[in-house]
Amino acid sequence: MCGIVGYIGKREAYPIILEGLKRLEYRGYDSAGIALYDGENLKLSKTKGKVADLENKITKEISLNGSVGIGHTRWATHGVPNDVNSHPHYSNSGDLVIIHNGIIENYASIKEELIKRGYSFSSDTDTEVLINLIEDVKKNEKVKLGKAVQIALNQVVGAYAIAVFDKNKPDEIVVAKLGSPLAIGVGDNEFFIASDATPFLEYTKKAIYLEDEEMAIVRLKKGIKIRKIKDDSLVAPYIQELQLNLEQIVKGGYDHFMLKEIHEQPEAIKDTYRGRLNVKEGLIRMAGIDDNLEHILNANRIIVIACGTSWHAGLVAEYIFEDLARIPVEVEYASEFRYRNPIITEKDVVIAISQSGETADTLAAIKLAKSKGAFVFGVCNVVGSSIARETHAGAYTHAGPEIGVASTKAFTTQITVLTLIALKLAKEKGTISKSDFQLHLQELQLIPDKVKKALLQDEHIKTVAKIYKDAKNCLYLGRGFNFPVALEGALKLKEISYIHAEGYPAAEMKHGPIALIDEQMPVFVIATKRGHYEKVVSNVQEIKSRKGKIIGIVTEGDKDVKNLADHVIEVPETLESLTPLLTTIPLQLLSYHIAVMLEKNVDQPRNLAKSVTVE
Ligand code: AGP
Ligand code: GLU
Repeated sequence: MCGIVGYIGKREAYPIILEGLKRLEYRGYDSAGIALYDGENLKLSKTKGKVADLENKITKEISLNGSVGIGHTRWATHGVPNDVNSHPHYSNSGDLVIIHNGIIENYASIKEELIKRGYSFSSDTDTEVLINLIEDVKKNEKVKLGKAVQIALNQVVGAYAIAVFDKNKPDEIVVAKLGSPLAIGVGDNEFFIASDATPFLEYTKKAIYLEDEEMAIVRLKKGIKIRKIKDDSLVAPYIQELQLNLEQIVKGGYDHFMLKEIHEQPEAIKDTYRGRLNVKEGLIRMAGIDDNLEHILNANRIIVIACGTSWHAGLVAEYIFEDLARIPVEVEYASEFRYRNPIITEKDVVIAISQSGETADTLAAIKLAKSKGAFVFGVCNVVGSSIARETHAGAYTHAGPEIGVASTKAFTTQITVLTLIALKLAKEKGTISKSDFQLHLQELQLIPDKVKKALLQDEHIKTVAKIYKDAKNCLYLGRGFNFPVALEGALKLKEISYIHAEGYPAAEMKHGPIALIDEQMPVFVIATKRGHYEKVVSNVQEIKSRKGKIIGIVTEGDKDVKNLADHVIEVPETLESLTPLLTTIPLQLLSYHIAVMLEKNVDQPRNLAKSVTVE
């Protein structure tokens, strides 16, 4: 994610763009930049850091006059956050500038070709490749900017919301959209471009939201021409009258960031496997793994270190890695690992999982593992974070900023990355058949739509939440791949509703916890069709016979648990190893709705911080 802003019209562009970037910082905030055109010069200033850092720097670098400009607040995907990787990016000639939200998957091959044609690159970003591809097309095809953008985008694979400006054609900005949002604010002979409407809401409530694979030439005096990128066909602009206020837009119309992020999971999972999962060719491409494949394949064991929700993702990884790749895995709380004088050798591979990439215990555990010769691989959500820089290699979850303290999309995107790694290693080791490997790839690609389907249960989940919101204690049970999901569901409820909850392996009940069961104890049981289903059903019967209240997370169409439980919440069927990506959804929504009904501070629960950077 990131925030893009553009302006062309009768006002000074700089104040509009600067304020607009501040409003979009929730979408990404590791670096920022603005380009302005004052009728003669195309000026640009950009910096690592926040928009406030840009505000301090830009006044020392360029004059701020100009009635057309573009700005960007970045959430890096390719190239660490620093000045040179920040947007906007110039083309080699310096005539064109671009800002971009998204990922160009085939940027490496395009970059290789452009270098052969004499282009040079100052940044490590995919975006700088795109602007030079556009320039190359413009030069060779001898076409105007709009046509060049269209031809270039038909060569690109990936996601984008872009705004491109040509100083030789200063009365227009060209925009295009695929996968990332792009809104055009329509004023009185002035136009605004942004990732959402917050930057222009006070200037106009008239907005056009581009659809995927659409582009537009936004031209002063001439208005807006929208075309389909693929076939150049014209699209009639649909101008909406906005009803939302500023805060509602920042939260995507949701009441809380947590709910927005729960609903972002289909896109976040898709963005995480984008450019890595190639079902057609039966391939998984992950540079951090590919470059260290031998080392990882020859590991004696994998040690996962993490905290909280990331630790739960690591537990899911243990089941997936051992089941598919037959590699021994140990999962450690980073806070324990760092102090218990663990036995670590060069033959160990450590996987450190962290959404923020700043968790002190995880960072310390990484340093300990490195000091004893282990190879450390990071799975982080923040590009260029401390953990990302400390590890030998890594893979980012492209979940976009996670603002809610309670981790949701980070969990499912971490599992997505770990599943890709496990499948890749299993294929290399030959511990999975070709057909089973292909089946997993196909099923993984279907997960975003299945998550969407699971989210459709929200109203039903809300009614269940209402029944159990006053519980004082809850139990969460799961088996196999879903035992970690039971732990995660309990953590979600604890941390945002302050209700005590515990997760257990379902079969563990008879070793003590079943003594807790009575009519006051809601028990959330993950009982999907795959994975010891019959055994879980008997666990449910044990609870029922002790008058426990049972809420079953079941595979759609389930009958057995439905006949036993007080309530069931259905999720679509999938492969057993992928069920955590679906079963966690109702548990996230349950904890969210209960917390809201209890009037808790869902996005900033008491005593908690989004990133625990202290011991
Ligand atoms: C989970 O909802 C919490 N926010 C917390 O447990 C979190 O997962 C933990 O602090 C680890 O954070 P990290 O993933 O940023 O390292
Ligand atoms: N992929 C681009 C980059 O890494 C854009 C990332 C974003 O959406 O902020 O610079």
